[in-house]
Amino acid sequence: MMQIYLDNAATTPVAPEVIESMVSVLQEEFGNPSSSHAYGRKAKALLENARRTIATTIHCSPSEIIFTSGGTEADNMALRCAVEQLEVKRIITSPIEHHAVLHTVEYLQKQFDIEVCYVRCDGNGNIDLAHLKELLASYSKTIVSLMHANNEIGTYLPIQEVSRLCRENNALFHSDTVQSIGHVPLNIQELDIDFITCSAHKMHGPKGVGFLYVNKRNKIQAFIHGGAQERGLRSGTENTASIVGMSKAITLITENLDEKIAKVWSLKKSMLEQLQLHIPTICFNGETSLENSLYTILNCSFPSSKNDGMLLFSLDLKGIACSGGSACTSGANTGSHVLRALNLDPQRQSIRFSFSHYTTQEEIDFLVKTLVELFNSK
Ligand SMILES: Cc1ncc(COP(=O)(O)O)c(C=O)c1O
Repeated sequence: MMQIYLDNAATTPVAPEVIESMVSVLQEEFGNPSSSHAYGRKAKALLENARRTIATTIHCSPSEIIFTSGGTEADNMALRCAVEQLEVKRIITSPIEHHAVLHTVEYLQKQFDIEVCYVRCDGNGNIDLAHLKELLASYSKTIVSLMHANNEIGTYLPIQEVSRLCRENNALFHSDTVQSIGHVPLNIQELDIDFITCSAHKMHGPKGVGFLYVNKRNKIQAFIHGGAQERGLRSGTENTASIVGMSKAITLITENLDEKIAKVWSLKKSMLEQLQLHIPTICFNGETSLENSLYTILNCSFPSSKNDGMLLFSLDLKGIACSGGSACTSGANTGSHVLRALNLDPQRQSIRFSFSHYTTQEEIDFLVKTLVELFNSK
């Protein structure tokens, strides 16, 4: 049976070149980067090389990159440092953020009694910029936390415009860029942002590693206390192999990026058009154009049918892996907080398909054929 992986927003297959780079570190460069002997110095050099590579890719200084255990930790670190260390008294966020942001915000609200405002968004997940402007106008030291590309529906934030609004109103700006980093060109120099977050496993790197970018104008202190690694900000012996793997992953994915974008976009477009043709009652959650949404995500909304609740399972039986929303909520059986916040019809079934440059047209055609058969068999 054909096995088709269309859940790349949950995690991506690790690129063979990444595995190769990691195996070589695990086998040969096992030194502790904090050790002063030759083994340690070699490991330290690998870490600093990886930091430089990542910094060059996103156009920032290596000293602005802090390695973390992934996107969740990086989001926690940005928001907690803002409140606990940078005197932030108010967080403006949106109801469609990832739980790594929303649950951290709820924790900070309870623990530090800070004000939290949720900016309105429309039914496609577009942030209401006029509302954001209104919220920013009332002054208390604020951080705005809005994600660059939504992990469930793909809708983009106009990040440049939000960054400008934040600057004009003296607010800090954090953007969860976990889904977009590596997949779209991101130039920190042009963005003027305070914090962005990255997770390696969303771009064909290993799980359990990521980074937080902190603009050097923000003087933050230790987030994890201990042996003073990461310039004292985030203690703990660094995961050298994974960090090297992440740097390889970001280098690989940004190579010939325009070609990769064109290829994946053409797959998404072909799937969208074929589904519209064969299942006319289908609609799509979130924006779908190349300009307004991440080309790796297509969130389909199917009409109610006899196989309600069984669609994911039926696709799985046919060898197709996809997701009923954010994979991070699977098992919780509470449905998607993003789709709920968009007030979408609860009778319809939503499935997120997410692609990578390894996805093929043959796989998309097989998926469409399978979906059409499932809907015609009712
Ligand atoms: C937008 C977004 N932010 C944060 C995370 C969490 O990243 P990690 O799995 O590295 O902790 C995810 C993962 O699903 C995500 O999609």
